[in-house]
Amino acid sequence: MFKIVKREEMAEGTVILNEIEAPLIAEKAKPGQFVILKATETGERIPLTMAMTDPVKGTITIIYMVVGKGTAVFRDLVVGDTYQDVIGPLGKPTHLEKVGKVVCVGGGTGIAVLHPITRALKEVGNHVIAIIGARSKDLLILEDHMQAASHELHVCTDDGSYGRKGFVTEALRDVLENEKIQLVVAIGPVPMMKFLSQLTKEYNVKTIVSLNPIMVDGTGMCGGCRVTVGGLTKFACVDGPEFDGHQVDYDELMLRLQAYCEDEKKCYEDYCVLSA
Ligand code: FES
Repeated sequence: MFKIVKREEMAEGTVILNEIEAPLIAEKAKPGQFVILKATETGERIPLTMAMTDPVKGTITIIYMVVGKGTAVFRDLVVGDTYQDVIGPLGKPTHLEKVGKVVCVGGGTGIAVLHPITRALKEVGNHVIAIIGARSKDLLILEDHMQAASHELHVCTDDGSYGRKGFVTEALRDVLENEKIQLVVAIGPVPMMKFLSQLTKEYNVKTIVSLNPIMVDGTGMCGGCRVTVGGLTKFACVDGPEFDGHQVDYDELMLRLQAYCEDEKKCYEDYCVLSA
């Protein structure tokens, strides 16, 4: 059992932070790795990349958006409640290397995944420019954390309610026009990563993205998380979750992510009725 020691609601209650006791995972986890959580014995298995780890306290922190029944069940857990299972650390850690100037771009809850990677890229000696975005000011998360993790932070909102008005891709284009960048790391909604990778390809800048396909076992056995990268089939859980952004078949990934949308919607609606 894995106890929740801290719970926060962010982005008007649509995004939840849980700090969870998991000392063995906290000790071993590296930036970019993920865990699979189950709230109950028969609950849905949900993969989430860790936003923070604290090996001294023996805790890991996950941040997730409530999008269906599985995450709604998580949302209803309070401090002192437990997750039945937390499995990890899973996936390959981020490759960390001093390359020079790096831009870390995050959208929505992707900012939570990006945070430990940004901090680690700074710690190995890179100059790190961070660009984060959300639909509006109220939905922006971890601004202070990203400020501390980077040398320079740019904030964008789609509606202009905070920071620069517009998408993170526009802010990134300005940076690429004015600076010599060696690496871009982009994490967020699939369309954001797709368009951002198209942009960095124009400027011939290496780009890493972190993918979030449907997963089941998380250990390379079920094939549920398969993605096409450079024309080859890869399993995001063991070959990723990070891949060369210029090689990913984003359209296929979006189609596969939509496969169970109707069933998920129905499950969520039933759960909301039952738990009302
Ligand atoms: S989740 Fe089953 S192979 Fe990756």
